[in-house]
Amino acid sequence: MTGADTLVLRRLSHLDGDTLSSLVEYGRSALGDSALDEWLLPVVAACGWLYVGIVGDEIVGAAEVIRCRGEKELYLEGFYIRPAFQGQGLGGRLLALVMAELAREGHERITATRDPANVAAARLYQAAGFSGSRLLRGYYGPGRDRLLVSARLGGRP
Ligand SMILES: CC(C)(COP(=O)(O)OP(=O)(O)OC[C@H]1O[C@@H](n2cnc3c(N)ncnc32)[C@H](O)[C@@H]1OP(=O)(O)O)[C@@H](O)C(=O)NCCC(=O)NCCS
Repeated sequence: MTGADTLVLRRLSHLDGDTLSSLVEYGRSALGDSALDEWLLPVVAACGWLYVGIVGDEIVGAAEVIRCRGEKELYLEGFYIRPAFQGQGLGGRLLALVMAELAREGHERITATRDPANVAAARLYQAAGFSGSRLLRGYYGPGRDRLLVSARLGGRP
């Protein structure tokens, strides 16, 4: 059995201090300065959807989701697997579990952006049914372009 088979999904709606510190550190280790910090993670937990993937007693990754203004559309703000756990199928499994859970809640579509040069993210999103190729120039500031991708939840793209 691989780690991906044993991955458990948990939604956190409240963060105690230790969990918050750990998530800030894990996010930075995977996403650098684009990771959500201690000011935003509790807000996403309380008002959006903060999921963690757990293997054994370790949080191995997280997904941070907020609602778009459009009624049924969500935005995947952050998604990562901690570096030590990457490349074992955990990212694909975590994303599939998150999307299934959000579909069960009745949400219809999820959008994300990715760095055009991020090959792992490209493959991850493609395998999860995301498509789209709109380039958002300077989305995160000069030189920080992003590709806009989206997927239907609970069905075909
Ligand atoms: C992107 C990320 C979540 C993938 O998680 P992971 O657990 O390593 O991915 P998986 O093992 O489930 O593999 C998912 C796909 O990515 C591919 N992949 C994983 N690491 C890769 C790498 N370094 N280079 C190229 N492809 C890679 C896998 O081959 C697989 O593709 P396939 O289904 O076509 O075979 C992880 O690398 C990460 O957290 N990166 C830093 C943060 C980030 O980029 N997040 C996405 C933000 S948009």
